Amino acid sequence: MKVLTVNCTNKTVVYFNSVFNLPSVIDIKGKKVAIFISKKVNEDVLHTLISSLEDGGANVFSYRTGDGEIIKTIEKVSLFSSFLSINGFNRDDIIVNIGGGTVCDSGAFAASIYMRGITYVNVPTTLLCAADACLGGKTAIDVGGVKNLWGTFWQPSAVIIDCNLIDKSENTFNNGISEIVKYGVIDKNFGEKLKAIASIDQIKSNLEQVIYDCLKIKGELVEIDEFDRAQRRFLNLGHTVAHAIESASGYQTGHAQAVAIGIYAESLISLKAGLLCESKYSEIISMLNLFIKDYAKIPNLLPLISYMKGDKKNLSGKIAFSLPCNDGVNVVYFTQKQLEDLFK
Ligand code: GLY
Repeated sequence: MKVLTVNCTNKTVVYFNSVFNLPSVIDIKGKKVAIFISKKVNEDVLHTLISSLEDGGANVFSYRTGDGEIIKTIEKVSLFSSFLSINGFNRDDIIVNIGGGTVCDSGAFAASIYMRGITYVNVPTTLLCAADACLGGKTAIDVGGVKNLWGTFWQPSAVIIDCNLIDKSENTFNNGISEIVKYGVIDKNFGEKLKAIASIDQIKSNLEQVIYDCLKIKGELVEIDEFDRAQRRFLNLGHTVAHAIESASGYQTGHAQAVAIGIYAESLISLKAGLLCESKYSEIISMLNLFIKDYAKIPNLLPLISYMKGDKKNLSGKIAFSLPCNDGVNVVYFTQKQLEDLFK
């Protein structure tokens, strides 16, 4: 069994293991466990998990949640908190989030504010969540139509990567590929590995290792910059453009498609700004070509600047980008005027 330890607040241990082995990796004896689980996860999985947790000595409660951005609201978090409170949960008890990024984001947010913080475990069921969002403790809900406006840093005590639970249907699986390519751009060695893997089918065949590699890269950045003030921002590569595309489309363009376009657009921006040479730019394009369709459908970027101006990582009125550069990823700030010139 692969294990990855991330030395951040709480210390997160990532276990590559069956979710049904949870009692052997987390101390649950005599505790209450709330399973916050996506409606998309099979009923049999829930039943078997409940039995295994009860056999391990836990008092188990389950809460079926919807899925998608609609569950990342204060109302849903409030309902879930009431569920915990009615069932007498206290700070020694545990939440287990099972689902994709939206379930883990909102379940983790609830965990971070309930009684000022309760232990939680993430069990991702989508590739997008498994390769990125499940680790690092960024919790979030959407407020006033703004994605991830409210959030906290609250680290999971454990993450369980159970590849049997990961949704392999084409759309959902392919949604995770842009984040994996992002890691290939951030980390040269992983980029070489990805080029050798060369197809989505081969990612499926090497799934555990690919997820391990992505989480290892992320874990190292979280260890050195848990609160996202410096190196962790490299993980936002492609995301300034992506978030603007998602917002401008009223979230009709999905995150994965937006990140794919974002990686391409931000590589072009870096090339145009003289921060990325032709050969390194071509390497990124060949990686995109291997795994992603439609990454080149860049909309007109000029009207997107107004959305970029709302990004939480901007500084002194300048817009922040995590750009692929000749010496690796760098956080670069542009004025509106500089961006207008680059986007022409
Ligand atoms: N998904 C980027 C981060 O966790 O920092």
